[in-house]
Formats: sequence, C-alpha cells, structure tokens
Amino acid sequence: MTMTDPGLTPDEKAANLNLEQLKQLVGLVPYNQSTDPFPVTGWDAIVFVVGNATQTAHYYESAYGMELEAYSGPETGNRDHKSYVLRSGSCRFVISGGVSPDSLLLDHHRQHGDGVVDIALEVPDVDRCIAHARSQGARVLEKPHDISDEFGTVRIAAIAAYGDTRHTLIDRSGYTGVYLPGYVERSAGYVKRDGAPKRMFQALDHVVGNVELGKMDEWVTYYNKVMGFLNMAEFVGDDIATDYSALMSKVVANGNHRVKFPLNEPAIAKKRSQIDEFLEFYRGPGVQHLALATNDILRTVDAMRAEGVEFLATPDSYYSDPALRARIGEVRAPIEELQSRGILVDRDEDGYLLQIFTRPTGDRPTVFFELIERHGSLGFGKGNFKALFEAIEREQDSRGNL
Ligand SMILES: [Fe+2]
Repeated sequence: MTMTDPGLTPDEKAANLNLEQLKQLVGLVPYNQSTDPFPVTGWDAIVFVVGNATQTAHYYESAYGMELEAYSGPETGNRDHKSYVLRSGSCRFVISGGVSPDSLLLDHHRQHGDGVVDIALEVPDVDRCIAHARSQGARVLEKPHDISDEFGTVRIAAIAAYGDTRHTLIDRSGYTGVYLPGYVERSAGYVKRDGAPKRMFQALDHVVGNVELGKMDEWVTYYNKVMGFLNMAEFVGDDIATDYSALMSKVVANGNHRVKFPLNEPAIAKKRSQIDEFLEFYRGPGVQHLALATNDILRTVDAMRAEGVEFLATPDSYYSDPALRARIGEVRAPIEELQSRGILVDRDEDGYLLQIFTRPTGDRPTVFFELIERHGSLGFGKGNFKALFEAIEREQDSRGNL
C-alpha cells in the first residue's frame, strides 16, 4: 500500500498555498486514496442560510476579510433567493437568503435561524461515492447529475447528514466557472482598511456538529460506514465537564485530514449543557462551530476585533494557573500577548495549538467560529474545553438559559 501526498486542490493553488503550509495549517497527511470507499479531496463550500444575505455577505467581507467572487439572484434569473459566494484562502462560504416570500429558505430560517445548511465536499468521483453511500443506507437527497454552462460541467449529488444539514458532493474538474452554473462573477465595492491583513485566515480546519443525547455514536458510525471517515481522537464524559454542564465529543476525518468533523452530544450534568441550549434554539442538530485556520492568530484577532468581532473572554486565572503554564511550555508568543487577546493554548505529544472562539454570530445562541493556529498538534484543544465551557456558561447564564 502506498501512501501518497495529497495534491493541492485548485482552490489551494489559487490561494498560493503549498503542501508544507497545509500540513502545518490544517494537519494534512498522506494517505492511500485507491483503497478509500468514498474518496474526498477536501472542502468545497460551506453554505449558510441567513435572514439577510445581502448584509451578512458584507459582514464576512468587512469583519472576516473575505472577498466576494460570485453571485446569484433575481438579476441573474434566480427569483427565489440571493446567494453571495465569498472566499478567504482556500475556504469558500456561500451566503443565501430568501427573496421570494415563498422561498423554502425562509421556512428553513424560521426553524433554525442563521446557520449552515450544507457542508459541501469536493470528490473525484461523485457516482462512486453515492453508490457506496447508498449501499451503506445513507439517504440520497439528490442523485448524481450534471449541470452545465459555457464554462463546462459539474457533476453533483447530495446526501443527508445530521438534522437538516446535508453534504453536497461535487466534482468540478470539468468546470472553469467562478462557482457553479447560474452564478456570475462579482466583486465587491468594499475596500479593506489600510494595514489590514491580505486575508484573516487561509483555510477551513474543522466543522463541528451538535447532535442529540445518545446520537453521537450513531453519527460517528455513519461517517465511518457511509463516508469511510476514520476516528481521530476521542473525548468522553468527564474529559469535558464543568460543575454545571458536560458533553461528549468524538472526531472523524477523511483520509487526508482536510475534512475533520468533531461530533458533540450533551451529557448529563447539574445544569443544562451548552449543547442542549444549541439544540433548543437551532430546533435540532446542526453545525455548532467552524474552525478557521490562520498562520498568525494574534494579527487575525486584532484585525477582527478592530472590525467589531466579539470573542469569548478568557479568565485571567487561565494564564496565571501554574499547572497550565507547566503544561503548555514554550510557545511562539509571550503569554502576555496571548492573555491580552484571550487566546487559548493547548499542547499534546505532537506539538501545540493556539485557538480562540467568537460569540455566536447570529441572533440565536447557535453557530460561532473558532480561529486556530496549529504548530504540530493535530488536536482540537481538549485541554481548553473546561476553560472554554466555563466562559460559555457565564454567557449562557447572562441570557437566563443556564
Ligand atoms: Fe473546534
């Protein structure tokens, strides 16, 4: 069996990323694709449904430094909804909102609020993936089919994931257009501030799903069987517990580790866990957070904060705790620099990582973002979960939901 380095995706090449950077940024690993029953190249796009796509797109341009590159809406013949396609590095977001009062997107938004409807993945062979998924009992939402325009053809299909979330599978190797047929190239009039970083993040690292009590293992098995994903790490029970709330989490990843899905479920504790709060306000399972990989988290946090992005506060006690100081050892920046920004540190046998979490980005206490800067560690900040959850619970309490 030969292990081959995953090649760069077109999106990564376009973003001027190289393999060494990606190994550091997102923990990319060599693997043997020929024995994979459901080969996945990487992320294609994260599709959000929001209450006001026009304004949300502006928010991701100004606050997250993303660049608008494509658009679909009434002006392009799509009378149902507007969709804005934004990019930072190799990471693509599609922000959609209903225009027609009859749009099904409005029903989705009424149920779930702003959130992620589709974690679209790039695959080399859509038909092979769907045949395997079907054989393992997955619910196929869209059979493989071609869509074409003057820029070529994409092969596309979709399967159901947790809740109302789906995975679109897409092979765009025969397509040179800016996103998909039906979209037109579009740039924004938004001008970045002087001194703003060229981009605030280079890639997507992981996407976390919250599922109901007792359902985590079911979804781990789903990703194992249907999509051939492997278990990366396991956090169970007490590992992620505070005095009041607890959760369980397991992580699955595709062969090259570009696509990593931690899956959380609530655990029994004295009070309602943050996962229960999510499940109530999202009306079911869904995407909890998206981790954006940056090679300079200090600069990114400063730039986002300057644009008004709010991060969870980390107690000063986190940084003065001698046990923590001993555990994290030497990192690339002085602790005081991390403390002044509230950046968390975790270390394992492979290295360390720096991370920070935003407050929920919409009106409901549901989806939020993480910034992550990896230095060898392939973990997810297990050592920080307790410190983080205590910070989240202080906020949950202030909303009267604890
Ligand atoms: Fe995370």
